[in-house]
Amino acid sequence: MINFKKEIAQALVDKTGQLEFNQVMEMIEIPPNPQMGDFAFPCFKLAKEFRKSPNLIAQEIAEKLGDIELFEKVENAAAYVNFFINKSIFAQSVIGEVFDKKEKFGASDMGENKKVIVEYSSPNIAKPFHIGHIRTTVIGHAIANIFEYLGYDVVTINHLGDYGTQFGKLIVAFNNWGDAKEVEAEPIPALLKLYVKFHEEAEKRPELEDEARAWFKKLEDGDEEALKLWQWFRDESLKEFGRVYDMLGIKFDSYAGESFYSDKMPRVLELMEGKGLLKESKGAEIVDLEPHGMPPALIRKSDGSTLYITRDIAAAIYRKEHYDFYKNVYVVGSQQILHFQQWMKIIELMGNEWAKDCVHVPFGMVSLEEGTMSTRKGRVVFLEDVLNKAVEQTKEIISAKNPNLENKDEVAKQVGIGAVVFQELSNSRIKDYVFSWDKTLSFDGETGPYVQYTHARAASILRKAEVEVNTKVDYSLLANEDAMNLVRLIQQFPTIVEDAARKYEPAIISRHIVDIAQGFNKFYHDCPIIVEDKALQKSRVALVYAVKQTIQNGLALLGVAAPEKM
Ligand code: ARG
Repeated sequence: MINFKKEIAQALVDKTGQLEFNQVMEMIEIPPNPQMGDFAFPCFKLAKEFRKSPNLIAQEIAEKLGDIELFEKVENAAAYVNFFINKSIFAQSVIGEVFDKKEKFGASDMGENKKVIVEYSSPNIAKPFHIGHIRTTVIGHAIANIFEYLGYDVVTINHLGDYGTQFGKLIVAFNNWGDAKEVEAEPIPALLKLYVKFHEEAEKRPELEDEARAWFKKLEDGDEEALKLWQWFRDESLKEFGRVYDMLGIKFDSYAGESFYSDKMPRVLELMEGKGLLKESKGAEIVDLEPHGMPPALIRKSDGSTLYITRDIAAAIYRKEHYDFYKNVYVVGSQQILHFQQWMKIIELMGNEWAKDCVHVPFGMVSLEEGTMSTRKGRVVFLEDVLNKAVEQTKEIISAKNPNLENKDEVAKQVGIGAVVFQELSNSRIKDYVFSWDKTLSFDGETGPYVQYTHARAASILRKAEVEVNTKVDYSLLANEDAMNLVRLIQQFPTIVEDAARKYEPAIISRHIVDIAQGFNKFYHDCPIIVEDKALQKSRVALVYAVKQTIQNGLALLGVAAPEKM
């Protein structure tokens, strides 16, 4: 694809003999509206160097660059040099690139295979995988896809919450009131029930708390019975989580959760001790973070047991030693910002210069629209139920819209789940938002189904085309505003993907493909595609192909399917 900005910069350097390439690259702007050109070069700051008025400089540059084939027109407007790119060359370059790269259009090797860890999802074992977990899961999945696409060597980790005193509580509850068949039939709801029961009973009999602590201690010490139960709870929970990951098309490279670090704790404590970081406080050990404007971090309790934060410190050190990461990314809710600031500071205080390569990517909370949600098991909303319900509702909508559609079930899955995922990814991640069924499942507006439907429409046009779909077309026939708008959006796609990676923000991609979908629907409305004039049809069909491929690539990065028919 021709990089017009670079071409302009090079031409400015060559023809003026006075400018420096990088400086020029930084100065070139994109005008706020296309009537002022596709690119603009401001001359205000050059007066001293050129010893001329900015207006005159712009005038002379415009004349010198006027005969370059890439530009239709180069003109001076109030001390700016405005560049109007040659539409045919532009369209040919962009569409040609999409035909050439296909599902790799937008990908690059800028990552040079550097190792990026993306930790996401990380639910707590024996607790429901609820609507709140969906954000880390889909945002993390998209971020992992994006980095992979840009040539990084991505390792995905699910840092399961599979350790801590709650397992002592579960063991006590199971031994007292548990039923193995119930746990096997519906593990999470059954374990949740036991957990709730434990708390009810412990109110009446506080000694249960001591029993629970003792069982967790046994677990930490490798007691056979404790380990067996814990392993079973963990396995059963993972089966249930696995169903959700399958629905979402998600796989992790590692399920090293909190328990994985239990035997790595003594060494980590030693390292901290060695740096003189640990202070005694009421029999427990803390790191004083007051000099860094943060509350102290509790590292080891008075009974010797370690905490969530201790395990995070151990995990980061393990990951550095085991993977030697370039970046270690954590997709975890904004409630935990302080937690991450604390342990990352401790890692730094331990003398690890790589602390700066650990990145917390926080996101806002999801709440549920009042009265929209009914669930089978009381107050918690299970993600699996949300996805199933989305699929069911989509099936009804599709059956009404397109009764003859083949493999309706498969498409309903792709669209229903896609709707939920896309909705999660359409807002800036840091914003809190309210989940609404109507909004999520609407086929219009800025939704997943809308984008998928646009993609399917493009696919259907390509099936109906009476001409060959290839790049041998008369690109001058695309020189109208609707078509050029699309070409411009497609051309931006690779930069958009890079921007999304830099900001850890998949919403940049979802918004961009919504723009492409809207641009396409306007083009489709104003410029009939299957027309009599075969040359015209051929040029438009080539553009449709490029639109379809770009939307498909964007959806794939977000973890959303792109059905050919719906
Ligand atoms: N299990 C935790 C929770 O559900 C999230 C873990 C986040 N990751 C981490 N390395 N602390 O809240």
